[in-house]
Amino acid sequence: MTDSLTIRRPDDWHVHLRDGAMLEAVVGHTARQFARAIVMPNLSPPVTTVAAAEAYRDRILAALPADADFTPLMTCYLTNNTDPEEVRRGFEAGVFTACKLYPAGATTNSDSGVTDVANIRGVLETMAEIGMVLCVHGEVTHADVDIFDREAVFIERVLAPLLEDLPQLKVVFEHLTSEEGVQFVETAGANVAATITPQHLHINRNAMLVGGMRPHAYCLPVAKREKHRLALRRAATSGSAKFFLGTDSAPHAREAKESACGCAGIFNAPFALESYLAVFEEEDALGNFEGFASEHGPAFYGLPLNEGRVKLERAECDVPDGLDADDTQLVPFHAGETLRWRFAN
Ligand code: NCD
Ligand code: ZN
Repeated sequence: MTDSLTIRRPDDWHVHLRDGAMLEAVVGHTARQFARAIVMPNLSPPVTTVAAAEAYRDRILAALPADADFTPLMTCYLTNNTDPEEVRRGFEAGVFTACKLYPAGATTNSDSGVTDVANIRGVLETMAEIGMVLCVHGEVTHADVDIFDREAVFIERVLAPLLEDLPQLKVVFEHLTSEEGVQFVETAGANVAATITPQHLHINRNAMLVGGMRPHAYCLPVAKREKHRLALRRAATSGSAKFFLGTDSAPHAREAKESACGCAGIFNAPFALESYLAVFEEEDALGNFEGFASEHGPAFYGLPLNEGRVKLERAECDVPDGLDADDTQLVPFHAGETLRWRFAN
């Protein structure tokens, strides 16, 4: 039995670091485990310009613990009015690593999102031309589409036609949650990849709804039936370079989650590697963990691999019920559980 695992330093290809006091409270958790992270731009107001991304990057760097060695990779929030030249300028200046497409109304702070991809045709054409990655929240938002079907319908109505129109566009299907999503990514060209979160590998929708409503298991896209979780586990642990680590760690104050209209988002940053590793072990795929965590992401984004190494040890790791943050508490994913691996650095 393997007792420790040393891998190249991993990156998180999808994280919400927030701003202000919440940023200060959470950024250290991500910086402790990851060398780089793709930082989501859904602040209020969203990060839509080069200047806003530079200022946000400065705030992230200022909030880091003194000994941190962490690089935030910034994204541009696309709206119906995004100027293709602003995107090009930000990418060429090394400020924007990617753009994020939120269908309007899909999730937290997505009100200024795109109402129809036809409205950003010019931006997407520019991105395809310069080789810039489009990170996609892949859900339709129409009231007539059941929330459990929103990812599959997005593929049919939006993503498949978009890739037919712009076959060169590099797309990361963020936080994949369905069997249909896995199949789509597997059969698409090499320019299409996906991130997978720890929660979608661990839980299905029962975790949210059986024995009471459990707001800390609620995120978007919502966890689905067991068959989808199994498809995601196969994809993540398969060794395929199309799938890589993206936690979608999305902290909300305890009271904002435990509410009559609770916020979507699971805060998994404190024990992200431990959580993923449990899955790779259960699937007898520890040998594929380094690819998923540290190699496939940079290869897709065209960025260098990290040089350092991190060590994970087989040791009990108790996840607390809550973590203090500013004047509130955050409930981490796996709260109250004991995980079998521990990040040792
Ligand atoms: C995210 C958030 O809170 O910002 N929530 C979530 O459930 N994942 C937004 C998102 O990525 O959808
Ligand atoms: Zn997210």
